[in-house]
Amino acid sequence: MLSRENNELLCRVGPGTPMGALMREYWIPALPSNEFPGPDSPPKRMKLLGENIIMYRDTKGRMGAIAEACPHRGASLYFARNEDCGIRCAYHGWKFDLDGNCIDAPTEPMERRMRFQQSIKARAFPCRDVNKMVWIYMGPRKEPPPFPAFEINTLPYDHVGEPSIMMEEANWLQNMEGDLDSAHLNFLHSRLQEKAPPPKHGIQGFWSPDPDPPVLDVQPTEYGAYYTAKRRYRNNEDWHRINQFIFPFHTMITTGDGTINLRSFVPLDDHYAMLISHRGHPKRPITPEENRVLTFDEVGGFIPRTEDPRTYFMTAANKRNDYARDLQVEKEAMFNGIPFIGNLQDRAMTELMCSDDGEPLYDRTKEHLGSSDAQVALVRRQLLQAVTDLRDQKKVPPNVDNVKLDRVRSASHIFPADADWRKLSEGSRDVDSGAPVGAEVPLIIQ
Ligand code: FES
Ligand SMILES: [Fe+2]
Repeated sequence: MLSRENNELLCRVGPGTPMGALMREYWIPALPSNEFPGPDSPPKRMKLLGENIIMYRDTKGRMGAIAEACPHRGASLYFARNEDCGIRCAYHGWKFDLDGNCIDAPTEPMERRMRFQQSIKARAFPCRDVNKMVWIYMGPRKEPPPFPAFEINTLPYDHVGEPSIMMEEANWLQNMEGDLDSAHLNFLHSRLQEKAPPPKHGIQGFWSPDPDPPVLDVQPTEYGAYYTAKRRYRNNEDWHRINQFIFPFHTMITTGDGTINLRSFVPLDDHYAMLISHRGHPKRPITPEENRVLTFDEVGGFIPRTEDPRTYFMTAANKRNDYARDLQVEKEAMFNGIPFIGNLQDRAMTELMCSDDGEPLYDRTKEHLGSSDAQVALVRRQLLQAVTDLRDQKKVPPNVDNVKLDRVRSASHIFPADADWRKLSEGSRDVDSGAPVGAEVPLIIQ
């Protein structure tokens, strides 16, 4: 449970909010590189942390982002001409470079144009295009912090897949908390029996040899927190699924297949967030099979985009049509009849958590946490601490500047019953230890 005040503190991310300020201290994954196919390709609208921005690739192939409203009289820079290393407003031809400098204001008389231009500055945001994803820095520093050292950002290019993205129609934290809550695997994502028939759409559900839901054990760290969800395995050993939370909105969930995966819950505003899932392989190029981007074709794919970036990556199966739920599947095969594709099932749970006035932001004064919510509760405490430290003492979490802290992994292990799982997983949680990815049991046991 959270007080109304703390719930607001954690959920709201717009300009001027404490959580929005915390997120703006970090580099943020924004759109895949392939949205900007070449130099001077068409600019794209985007919305991040409640701000409307335009992203583009300039003549030299560099990525740029600029506040949508032109500093002259507010015309949308979406319609700007992307040419000759800058973006030229379609209304009166003012032109801005990658840093937001006004480099031409042709409506001003020649004799005062230079001086005038120097007094105009557009809000521009530094961007980095790394391993198929464009990241943006929207924070207050003149010199952005170091680039996040997540393994996905430092692997060779061909070891990294295209990011899979789905839009989620709920507050970012509501969505992310699903990644901190292993117990729901035993229900929402599970099949009805070990040998249940495979569902028509989506992957086979989760199944555990342990009849009981997992026991959680959590560990706060400097970069966030990790935890194990421990289930009894065959021969009375313990199956540990060890997952990560990294400030401000990243998780790593073990899939148990030897790949690594960064999951980022990136808010467009308080009510919409993208789940970006970015996969790679530490040792070899990613295979086409591993690089299957989620297209949701089985359930109608994505809806056509409108001018509103909140329609990007929005699946045709959504809350307006019960997410393609199949009640027959629910009788015979799966605990829930919504296809297990990406986070479709999760979204049915988190997108309909609403306050009484219908705002898609859950009122957490009404909830009742139990022991399976240990990681949810810990991460909320950490986020609250980080938000108030920044607001009251101007202190940022250590991984803003010490990006080595991002070099962690999730892992799936079988350990002897009641072993010291923290110690035994030390190597597999550390990218630079030389240990292989902990992948002893796959997420879906066949
Ligand atoms: S509004 Fe952009 S140049 Fe006038
Ligand atoms: Fe889930």
